[in-house]
Amino acid sequence: MNMAFTITDDIGAAGRAVRESLSRKNQRSQELTGRTRELMNMGSAASVEMPFPVLIEKGEGAHLIDADGNRYIDFQIGFGSLILGHRHPVITQAILDQVENRGWQFGLHNPNQVPLAEQLIKADNCVERVIFCNTGTEASMYAIRVSRAFTGKNKIGVFDGFYHGAHDYGIGIADPASPRDAPVYRPLGAGVLPAVVENQVMLPYRSPAAFDLIRQHKDELAVVMIEAAQSSNPHMNDEIRDYLHELKAVCAASGVLFMMDEVITGFRFAYGGAQEFYGVKPDLATYGKALGGGLPIGAVGGRADIMRLFNAMHEGDPKGIMSGGTFSGNPLTMAAGYAQTRYFDEHRDKVYPHINGQGERLAKMVNDYAHSKNMAVQVLNAGSMFQIYFRKEPIRSARDLNMKKPQAETEFYLHLLDNGVLVPGTRRSFVSFAHTPELIDEAVGRITRSLDLVREDGLI
Ligand SMILES: Cc1ncc(COP(=O)(O)O)c(C=O)c1O
Repeated sequence: MNMAFTITDDIGAAGRAVRESLSRKNQRSQELTGRTRELMNMGSAASVEMPFPVLIEKGEGAHLIDADGNRYIDFQIGFGSLILGHRHPVITQAILDQVENRGWQFGLHNPNQVPLAEQLIKADNCVERVIFCNTGTEASMYAIRVSRAFTGKNKIGVFDGFYHGAHDYGIGIADPASPRDAPVYRPLGAGVLPAVVENQVMLPYRSPAAFDLIRQHKDELAVVMIEAAQSSNPHMNDEIRDYLHELKAVCAASGVLFMMDEVITGFRFAYGGAQEFYGVKPDLATYGKALGGGLPIGAVGGRADIMRLFNAMHEGDPKGIMSGGTFSGNPLTMAAGYAQTRYFDEHRDKVYPHINGQGERLAKMVNDYAHSKNMAVQVLNAGSMFQIYFRKEPIRSARDLNMKKPQAETEFYLHLLDNGVLVPGTRRSFVSFAHTPELIDEAVGRITRSLDLVREDGLI
């Protein structure tokens, strides 16, 4: 199996050198990938534009070490789930204690569930009751089902640029040819049922035109779902605060449920997630990532009168919904999740100023550098979540971004990897509590060095 980089004529000297360097220093990853590729489809968890993924052997605080022993500053940080960094002692201890002394899977309710449910109820003002599942994908699937059962309506409202998980209703894009204020929903990829297209109402993100569309479709819409900060274009500002409050009011007046997807923002924006940060109270919210301390988790929380439908089927109520899962609420995830969220609770005065502050610093330093060198580069950040974009014009929503990445971006991420900084293939990057200010300074140095190398090839 050929794992080599393809070198085309348009690749400059720095681009050739970085490809040689990455091939040389990732011998073992290449060898192991050959075998992996024979056995599995590797999906979307790519290492930027590498012809083979860098296989990770070990995590330590804010660092990753790969199969060849190369060390990276890690901004993937478990797709954002490890807010305390890799192998934080408090979480390590909780996992070890559970594994050594109790067990990790019973398929029955266990005493570890209540403390985690209590954390979620304490943290987030909308949560009166909770159900646990295994991923953010499952959580939004259940939130949609319970919304339909509660309202007796079928359609769901999503905003262009959204991602609510890998199931049919969690993915989609706005047709690029459709007007900004009246985006037309298109499934992302093949295999999505036509019924999904019929039952999805796409709304323009951060535009008041969305409010009119909700009013127009109010008799069909069960729920409107929103990420307070879309990972495709992270922003955190007062305009979004006002937007969320108005969205809630419009939904309430229209008899449509209002759901916030807190899979990323939960326990990241603040201990109480985006709900605390923006002071807004949805009817329902979904969770994942940080809630599980780095083990697989999803959860739906919300108003008790809606959440009771999760139990009502067993009571013979025709509005009751089906939910279940072999690993839902398993004791190991609950133990890790409780250890991490209790840490957030007890140290919230330190954790949130730190991660939000370091995210701000990183964005400002890179933006200042790009500006001083007149580079068409910008960093967007919502506190500790950030992404680097290769365009100068303002990015207001995902409608300002092309699916096709510029060559400068491909080259940059290869240089960045070679310079020892790891970001996900999705480019959505996260600062953790383990990233010290000194490490952020070092990371900025590596980012700007990588930008300079792209410039050497005349691409920015
Ligand atoms: C906003 C949002 N919702 C839902 C999901 C799906 O979560 P999971 O990957 O745990 O299924 C993600 C995953 O990144 C997400 O970012």
